[in-house]
Amino acid sequence: MEETMQYYVAPLEGITGYIFRSAHHKYFPGADKYFIPFIEPKPNSKKIFSARELNDILPEHNRGMRTVPQILTNKWEDFVWTAKHLQEYGYDEVNINLGCPSKTVVSKKRGAGFLADPEGVDDFLAHIFDALDMKISVKTRLGREDPVEFRWLLEIYNKYPLAELIIHPRTQKEFYGFTPHYEMFAEALEETSLPVCYNGDVNTKEDCREIEKRFPQITGVMMGRGILRNPGLIGEIRGEEKADIRRLRSFHDELYAAYQQEMPGDTQVLFKMKELWTYLRHSFS
Ligand SMILES: Cc1cc2nc3c(=O)[nH]c(=O)nc-3n(C[C@H](O)[C@H](O)[C@H](O)COP(=O)(O)O)c2cc1C
Repeated sequence: MEETMQYYVAPLEGITGYIFRSAHHKYFPGADKYFIPFIEPKPNSKKIFSARELNDILPEHNRGMRTVPQILTNKWEDFVWTAKHLQEYGYDEVNINLGCPSKTVVSKKRGAGFLADPEGVDDFLAHIFDALDMKISVKTRLGREDPVEFRWLLEIYNKYPLAELIIHPRTQKEFYGFTPHYEMFAEALEETSLPVCYNGDVNTKEDCREIEKRFPQITGVMMGRGILRNPGLIGEIRGEEKADIRRLRSFHDELYAAYQQEMPGDTQVLFKMKELWTYLRHSFS
Protein backbone atom coordinates (compact mmCIF):
# COMPACT_ATOMS: atom_id res chain seq x y z
CA MET A 1 0.00 0.00 0.00
CA GLU A 2 1.25 3.50 -0.83
CA GLU A 3 1.41 5.83 2.11
CA THR A 4 0.55 8.98 0.23
CA MET A 5 -2.01 9.43 -2.47
CA GLN A 6 -0.58 9.07 -5.96
CA TYR A 7 -1.66 11.34 -8.82
CA TYR A 8 -1.22 10.08 -12.35
CA VAL A 9 -1.57 11.47 -15.85
CA ALA A 10 -3.71 9.11 -17.95
CA PRO A 11 -2.65 7.85 -21.36
CA LEU A 12 -4.48 9.76 -24.11
CA GLU A 13 -3.53 8.37 -27.49
CA GLY A 14 -2.70 11.16 -29.97
CA ILE A 15 -2.43 13.75 -27.18
CA THR A 16 -0.19 12.81 -24.25
CA GLY A 17 2.80 11.72 -26.34
CA TYR A 18 6.34 12.56 -25.27
CA ILE A 19 6.13 16.15 -26.53
CA PHE A 20 3.10 16.86 -24.38
CA ARG A 21 4.56 15.02 -21.40
CA SER A 22 7.90 16.86 -21.58
CA ALA A 23 6.26 20.29 -21.73
CA HIS A 24 3.77 19.34 -19.03
CA HIS A 25 6.45 18.02 -16.72
CA LYS A 26 8.52 21.18 -17.23
CA TYR A 27 5.77 23.71 -16.52
CA PHE A 28 3.48 21.67 -14.27
CA PRO A 29 5.67 19.19 -12.41
CA GLY A 30 4.24 16.96 -9.71
CA ALA A 31 2.63 13.98 -11.43
CA ASP A 32 3.74 10.75 -9.76
CA LYS A 33 3.48 8.84 -13.03
CA TYR A 34 2.70 9.42 -16.68
CA PHE A 35 1.18 6.50 -18.56
CA ILE A 36 2.31 6.27 -22.18
CA PRO A 37 -0.47 5.80 -24.77
CA PHE A 38 -0.83 2.19 -25.88
CA ILE A 39 1.77 0.26 -27.81
CA GLU A 40 0.53 -2.45 -30.17
CA PRO A 41 2.79 -5.51 -30.52
CA LYS A 42 3.91 -6.17 -34.07
CA PRO A 43 5.01 -9.81 -34.02
CA ASN A 44 5.07 -10.17 -37.81
CA SER A 45 6.99 -7.02 -38.50
CA LYS A 46 10.74 -6.39 -38.46
CA LYS A 47 10.15 -3.28 -36.40
CA ILE A 48 9.50 -3.77 -32.71
CA PHE A 49 8.01 -0.32 -32.26
CA SER A 50 6.44 2.17 -34.66
CA ALA A 51 8.15 5.57 -34.97
CA ARG A 52 5.52 7.08 -32.67
CA GLU A 53 5.97 4.34 -30.10
CA LEU A 54 9.76 4.51 -30.16
CA ASN A 55 9.75 8.29 -29.69
CA ASP A 56 7.39 7.82 -26.82
CA ILE A 57 9.54 5.31 -24.93
CA LEU A 58 13.10 6.55 -25.59
CA PRO A 59 14.69 7.34 -22.21
CA GLU A 60 15.97 10.70 -23.49
CA HIS A 61 12.37 11.70 -24.16
CA ASN A 62 11.30 10.80 -20.63
CA ARG A 63 13.98 12.36 -18.45
CA GLY A 64 13.15 13.25 -14.90
CA MET A 65 9.67 11.72 -14.86
CA ARG A 66 8.32 8.30 -14.07
CA THR A 67 6.65 6.91 -17.18
CA VAL A 68 4.85 3.61 -17.56
CA PRO A 69 4.34 2.09 -20.99
CA GLN A 70 1.04 0.42 -21.82
CA ILE A 71 0.48 -2.55 -24.12
CA LEU A 72 -2.71 -3.36 -26.02
CA THR A 73 -3.11 -7.01 -27.00
CA ASN A 74 -4.96 -10.19 -26.03
CA LYS A 75 -2.08 -12.51 -26.91
CA TRP A 76 0.18 -13.20 -23.98
CA GLU A 77 3.14 -14.16 -26.21
CA ASP A 78 2.96 -10.75 -27.92
CA PHE A 79 2.65 -8.98 -24.59
CA VAL A 80 5.69 -10.73 -23.16
CA TRP A 81 7.72 -10.11 -26.31
CA THR A 82 6.96 -6.38 -26.27
CA ALA A 83 7.41 -6.05 -22.51
CA LYS A 84 10.86 -7.65 -22.68
CA HIS A 85 11.89 -5.11 -25.30
CA LEU A 86 10.59 -2.34 -23.05
CA GLN A 87 12.68 -3.78 -20.24
CA GLU A 88 15.75 -3.34 -22.44
CA TYR A 89 14.95 0.37 -22.57
CA GLY A 90 14.99 0.45 -18.78
CA TYR A 91 11.31 0.07 -17.92
CA ASP A 92 10.48 -1.99 -14.86
CA GLU A 93 6.70 -1.63 -15.07
CA VAL A 94 4.14 -2.24 -17.81
CA ASN A 95 0.43 -1.60 -17.93
CA ILE A 96 -2.19 -3.74 -19.64
CA ASN A 97 -4.88 -1.92 -21.60
CA LEU A 98 -8.22 -3.55 -20.77
CA GLY A 99 -10.22 -0.40 -21.28
CA CYS A 100 -10.03 0.91 -24.83
CA PRO A 101 -13.67 1.07 -26.05
CA SER A 102 -13.09 1.86 -29.74
CA LYS A 103 -14.93 -0.35 -32.22
CA THR A 104 -11.85 -1.37 -34.20
CA VAL A 105 -10.06 -2.49 -31.03
CA VAL A 106 -13.09 -4.17 -29.44
CA SER A 107 -13.98 -6.08 -32.63
CA LYS A 108 -10.56 -7.73 -32.37
CA LYS A 109 -11.34 -8.71 -28.76
CA ARG A 110 -8.75 -6.34 -27.39
CA GLY A 111 -8.91 -3.48 -24.89
CA ALA A 112 -12.36 -3.46 -23.27
CA GLY A 113 -13.35 -6.08 -25.87
CA PHE A 114 -11.18 -8.64 -24.06
CA LEU A 115 -13.33 -8.20 -20.93
CA ALA A 116 -16.09 -10.25 -22.58
CA ASP A 117 -13.81 -13.30 -22.15
CA PRO A 118 -12.86 -13.47 -18.44
CA GLU A 119 -11.36 -16.95 -18.84
CA GLY A 120 -9.18 -15.62 -21.63
CA VAL A 121 -8.08 -12.73 -19.40
CA ASP A 122 -7.25 -15.22 -16.62
CA ASP A 123 -5.13 -17.34 -18.96
CA PHE A 124 -3.42 -14.21 -20.34
CA LEU A 125 -2.52 -12.97 -16.84
CA ALA A 126 -1.30 -16.39 -15.71
CA HIS A 127 1.12 -16.56 -18.64
CA ILE A 128 2.49 -13.05 -18.41
CA PHE A 129 3.02 -13.23 -14.65
CA ASP A 130 4.84 -16.48 -15.21
CA ALA A 131 7.05 -15.11 -17.98
CA LEU A 132 7.89 -11.58 -16.82
CA ASP A 133 9.99 -10.21 -14.02
CA MET A 134 8.44 -6.73 -14.03
CA LYS A 135 5.73 -4.82 -12.20
CA ILE A 136 2.47 -5.36 -14.01
CA SER A 137 -0.55 -3.13 -13.61
CA VAL A 138 -3.98 -3.22 -15.23
CA LYS A 139 -6.14 -0.36 -16.52
CA THR A 140 -9.66 -1.70 -16.84
CA ARG A 141 -13.28 -0.81 -17.38
CA LEU A 142 -16.08 -2.61 -15.55
CA GLY A 143 -17.03 -4.85 -18.44
CA ARG A 144 -18.54 -4.88 -21.90
CA GLU A 145 -22.20 -4.12 -21.25
CA ASP A 146 -23.11 -4.40 -17.61
CA PRO A 147 -21.19 -3.14 -14.57
CA VAL A 148 -21.92 -6.38 -12.68
CA GLU A 149 -19.53 -8.14 -15.04
CA PHE A 150 -16.86 -6.63 -12.82
CA ARG A 151 -17.62 -9.11 -10.02
CA TRP A 152 -16.21 -11.94 -12.13
CA LEU A 153 -13.39 -9.88 -13.53
CA LEU A 154 -12.29 -8.81 -10.05
CA GLU A 155 -12.17 -12.42 -8.88
CA ILE A 156 -9.64 -12.96 -11.65
CA TYR A 157 -7.59 -9.83 -10.99
CA ASN A 158 -7.47 -10.78 -7.31
CA LYS A 159 -5.56 -13.96 -8.20
CA TYR A 160 -2.53 -11.98 -9.37
CA PRO A 161 -0.03 -9.67 -7.62
CA LEU A 162 -0.93 -6.63 -9.71
CA ALA A 163 1.22 -3.59 -8.95
CA GLU A 164 -1.97 -1.59 -9.32
CA LEU A 165 -5.52 -1.98 -10.51
CA ILE A 166 -6.64 1.21 -12.24
CA ILE A 167 -10.40 1.24 -12.64
CA HIS A 168 -12.37 3.48 -14.97
CA PRO A 169 -15.87 2.58 -13.72
CA ARG A 170 -17.69 2.56 -17.03
CA THR A 171 -18.53 -0.26 -19.42
CA GLN A 172 -17.18 -0.46 -22.95
CA LYS A 173 -20.61 0.41 -24.34
CA GLU A 174 -20.66 3.66 -22.39
CA PHE A 175 -17.51 5.02 -24.04
CA TYR A 176 -16.85 8.34 -22.26
CA GLY A 177 -20.46 9.29 -21.50
CA PHE A 178 -22.95 8.61 -18.70
CA THR A 179 -22.12 8.88 -15.02
CA PRO A 180 -19.42 6.51 -13.76
CA HIS A 181 -20.74 3.54 -11.72
CA TYR A 182 -19.55 4.71 -8.32
CA GLU A 183 -21.51 2.02 -6.48
CA MET A 184 -19.78 -0.79 -8.39
CA PHE A 185 -16.43 0.90 -7.77
CA ALA A 186 -17.22 0.97 -4.01
CA GLU A 187 -18.18 -2.69 -4.12
CA ALA A 188 -14.91 -3.53 -5.85
CA LEU A 189 -12.92 -1.76 -3.14
CA GLU A 190 -14.55 -3.99 -0.54
CA GLU A 191 -13.65 -7.11 -2.48
CA THR A 192 -9.97 -6.60 -3.16
CA SER A 193 -6.73 -6.02 -1.33
CA LEU A 194 -4.95 -4.85 -4.47
CA PRO A 195 -3.86 -1.19 -4.59
CA VAL A 196 -6.68 0.50 -6.51
CA CYS A 197 -6.42 3.72 -8.49
CA TYR A 198 -9.59 5.60 -9.46
CA ASN A 199 -9.96 7.03 -12.98
CA GLY A 200 -12.78 8.93 -14.67
CA ASP A 201 -14.21 12.46 -14.80
CA VAL A 202 -11.90 14.04 -12.23
CA ASN A 203 -11.76 17.52 -13.74
CA THR A 204 -11.27 19.81 -10.74
CA LYS A 205 -9.57 19.66 -7.37
CA GLU A 206 -13.04 19.50 -5.82
CA ASP A 207 -13.84 16.40 -7.91
CA CYS A 208 -10.63 14.86 -6.61
CA ARG A 209 -11.37 15.68 -2.97
CA GLU A 210 -14.83 14.18 -3.37
CA ILE A 211 -13.40 10.93 -4.75
CA GLU A 212 -10.78 10.71 -1.98
CA LYS A 213 -13.44 11.36 0.66
CA ARG A 214 -15.89 8.88 -0.77
CA PHE A 215 -13.30 6.14 -1.38
CA PRO A 216 -10.63 6.50 1.31
CA GLN A 217 -9.16 3.06 0.52
CA ILE A 218 -7.84 4.14 -2.90
CA THR A 219 -4.10 4.60 -3.34
CA GLY A 220 -4.24 6.87 -6.36
CA VAL A 221 -6.23 9.01 -8.77
CA MET A 222 -5.56 9.07 -12.51
CA MET A 223 -6.65 12.08 -14.55
CA GLY A 224 -6.81 12.50 -18.31
CA ARG A 225 -9.14 15.07 -19.79
CA GLY A 226 -9.08 17.12 -16.57
CA ILE A 227 -5.33 17.70 -17.07
CA LEU A 228 -5.92 18.81 -20.64
CA ARG A 229 -8.56 21.26 -19.41
CA ASN A 230 -6.33 22.48 -16.60
CA PRO A 231 -2.70 21.38 -16.92
CA GLY A 232 -2.06 22.62 -13.37
CA LEU A 233 -4.70 20.33 -11.86
CA ILE A 234 -2.32 18.04 -9.95
CA GLY A 235 -0.50 21.06 -8.50
CA GLU A 236 -3.81 22.51 -7.32
CA ILE A 237 -4.79 19.21 -5.75
CA ARG A 238 -1.49 19.33 -3.89
CA GLY A 239 -2.35 22.77 -2.55
CA GLU A 240 -0.67 25.11 -5.04
CA GLU A 241 -2.27 28.30 -6.26
CA LYS A 242 -4.06 28.19 -9.59
CA ALA A 243 -1.38 28.52 -12.27
CA ASP A 244 -1.18 32.02 -13.69
CA ILE A 245 -1.86 32.68 -17.33
CA ARG A 246 1.81 33.27 -18.20
CA ARG A 247 2.72 29.77 -17.15
CA LEU A 248 -0.12 28.37 -19.24
CA ARG A 249 1.04 30.50 -22.16
CA SER A 250 4.64 29.28 -21.86
CA PHE A 251 3.45 25.67 -21.73
CA HIS A 252 1.21 26.23 -24.74
CA ASP A 253 3.86 27.99 -26.82
CA GLU A 254 6.50 25.41 -26.06
CA LEU A 255 4.13 22.66 -27.11
CA TYR A 256 3.29 24.54 -30.29
CA ALA A 257 6.96 25.05 -31.16
CA ALA A 258 7.78 21.40 -30.45
CA TYR A 259 4.94 20.18 -32.68
CA GLN A 260 6.13 22.49 -35.45
CA GLN A 261 9.55 20.88 -35.24
CA GLU A 262 8.21 17.36 -35.09
CA MET A 263 5.46 17.47 -37.71
CA PRO A 264 5.89 17.97 -41.44
CA GLY A 265 3.05 20.38 -42.17
CA ASP A 266 1.13 23.30 -40.71
CA THR A 267 -2.17 21.47 -41.14
CA GLN A 268 -1.08 18.64 -38.87
CA VAL A 269 0.20 21.08 -36.27
CA LEU A 270 -3.08 22.95 -36.48
CA PHE A 271 -5.13 19.78 -35.90
CA LYS A 272 -2.91 18.84 -32.99
CA MET A 273 -3.35 22.25 -31.38
CA LYS A 274 -7.08 22.38 -32.12
CA GLU A 275 -7.60 19.14 -30.27
CA LEU A 276 -5.79 20.58 -27.28
CA TRP A 277 -7.71 23.86 -27.47
CA THR A 278 -11.05 22.03 -27.27
CA TYR A 279 -10.01 21.06 -23.74
CA LEU A 280 -7.84 24.05 -22.78
CA ARG A 281 -10.63 26.54 -23.49
CA HIS A 282 -12.12 25.47 -20.13
CA SER A 283 -9.21 27.27 -18.46
CA PHE A 284 -10.67 30.60 -19.66
CA SER A 285 -13.74 32.53 -18.60
C1 LIG B 1 -8.47 10.90 -26.91
C2 LIG B 1 -8.34 9.82 -25.89
C3 LIG B 1 -7.32 8.87 -26.02
C4 LIG B 1 -7.17 7.84 -25.05
N1 LIG B 1 -6.15 6.93 -25.17
C5 LIG B 1 -6.00 5.96 -24.23
C6 LIG B 1 -4.91 5.02 -24.27
O1 LIG B 1 -4.04 5.05 -25.14
N2 LIG B 1 -4.86 4.06 -23.29
C7 LIG B 1 -5.79 4.01 -22.29
O2 LIG B 1 -5.70 3.13 -21.41
N3 LIG B 1 -6.80 4.88 -22.20
C8 LIG B 1 -6.92 5.85 -23.15
N4 LIG B 1 -7.94 6.76 -23.02
C9 LIG B 1 -8.78 6.74 -21.79
C10 LIG B 1 -8.18 7.66 -20.72
O3 LIG B 1 -6.90 7.21 -20.32
C11 LIG B 1 -9.09 7.73 -19.47
O4 LIG B 1 -9.27 6.41 -18.98
C12 LIG B 1 -10.45 8.32 -19.76
O5 LIG B 1 -10.32 9.50 -20.54
C13 LIG B 1 -11.22 8.64 -18.48
O6 LIG B 1 -10.49 9.49 -17.64
P1 LIG B 1 -10.70 11.10 -17.61
O7 LIG B 1 -12.17 11.34 -17.41
O8 LIG B 1 -9.85 11.57 -16.50
O9 LIG B 1 -10.27 11.63 -18.96
C14 LIG B 1 -8.10 7.75 -23.98
C15 LIG B 1 -9.12 8.72 -23.86
C16 LIG B 1 -9.26 9.74 -24.79
C17 LIG B 1 -10.37 10.74 -24.62
